[in-house]
Amino acid sequence: MEGWRLRDITLKGVTLNGVISVAYYAEWRYAEWRMTQLLENPFVFGEIIDDANFVNRTEELSHLVRDLADGQKVFLLSPRRFGKSSLVSVALLKLKKRHIRTVSLTVSSYSSYTQFLEKFAEKVLRAAGPWERVKDWVTRFGRQVQPEINYNINTGEVNVSLGKGSGYDPTPIAPDIFALPGELTKKAGFRMAICLDEFQQISQFNGGSVENALRNQVQEQREVGYVFSGSQPSLMQEMLTAKRPFHKAGPQMFLDKIAQKDWKEFIDRHFRRRGRTLDNAGLELLLHTADLIPYDVQRIAHELWDYAELKDKRRLDASDVNLVIEALVTSQSTYFELLWEQLSARQRAALQALAHRGAAEIYSENIREVFRLGPASTVQKALHSLDSRDVIDRYKGDYFFLDPLFPRWITKKGA
Ligand SMILES: Nc1ncnc2c1ncn2[C@@H]1O[C@H](COP(=O)(O)OP(=O)(O)OP(=O)(O)O)[C@@H](O)[C@H]1O
Ligand SMILES: [Mg+2]
Repeated sequence: MEGWRLRDITLKGVTLNGVISVAYYAEWRYAEWRMTQLLENPFVFGEIIDDANFVNRTEELSHLVRDLADGQKVFLLSPRRFGKSSLVSVALLKLKKRHIRTVSLTVSSYSSYTQFLEKFAEKVLRAAGPWERVKDWVTRFGRQVQPEINYNINTGEVNVSLGKGSGYDPTPIAPDIFALPGELTKKAGFRMAICLDEFQQISQFNGGSVENALRNQVQEQREVGYVFSGSQPSLMQEMLTAKRPFHKAGPQMFLDKIAQKDWKEFIDRHFRRRGRTLDNAGLELLLHTADLIPYDVQRIAHELWDYAELKDKRRLDASDVNLVIEALVTSQSTYFELLWEQLSARQRAALQALAHRGAAEIYSENIREVFRLGPASTVQKALHSLDSRDVIDRYKGDYFFLDPLFPRWITKKGA
């Protein structure tokens, strides 16, 4: 898009002036070339990854697609930025191709229970088909409270409004709303797959009553697959304990990191296609620094790509990767500094130990002595509080930094 806009504006400028200045033309061509190069950067981060750029996850994908098509209720868990949303998005795409109606909602996007319910209803109705047809199938909807439903004939959009004012309590109508997918699939003869992303946030709406209402309805919906995905595994696991409504509601899927060899192949392939190489030491440094967290692998690779374009460097090695990582750490240093200032002395000490020596022996006497961590119970408390602050999380039992560049900054700072 940007490239085209640039071309239009420049051409207009050229026509208006009536003469083509050589310098102007060269500058335009260079800017245009730069733009296409940047647009071509194949490493994408911070966005949901589409089918074409999806690395591995073949087993997880076929598992998820099969379970959702079977009407299972799947719980997808992993720490932040491991690729849950991307996995679900590709899975829903595959289901759509099989004529399964799909719905996707991010629970954390809504500021109130009412708004969440309205969007849930809207998206389910939209996925089910034109309102004109859908309305005859909806029998339970609005039995207790009459919602306002607006249908726009031109756009085909359905808008649902449950009640005005912040004091409105949607609890009585929630079961009817959550029953909608079941109603529709039963009457219309199609299947549905629904994703509720950032699901751990649902307890913010009215506590246990939401979980109860939702659980009671979804367990009756044989034709509807659900994936409840959550970025805070500890909160999600709490939701699945014996005392909570979702206990044993369906299979749990823990998303692992993507294997090193898949990333190597992916990164190598893209650089080669552009006529560049990155040596093995460079690749390993990149993957090690990113701690194999998908978001960070893509982010460093993205920066390395731009760096190589700018310098037009054909052969890249560990020193280039290092330069790019240093630049990234520097660009984030204000943020890291602020974060650091907010931490207690105990928390800082624990992070220093973690940054220098990793998680495996964090409780050992030697490490506690060297880093002046205090007794093991104090270390445990510090780590726990850092976990709830989203500075660290657990993967396969061990703590790790959610932002893998933070330990780089910490070690540099203390050097
Ligand atoms: N299979 C994949 N192949 C390539 N890159 C991926 C893959 N999965 C994730 N990524 C990278 O990780 C980034 C984060 O992915 P995504 O948003 O799907 O993760 P998430 O677990 O939903 O994160 P959050 O917990 O923050 O919502 C993507 O933008 C992309 O850069
Ligand atoms: Mg996500």
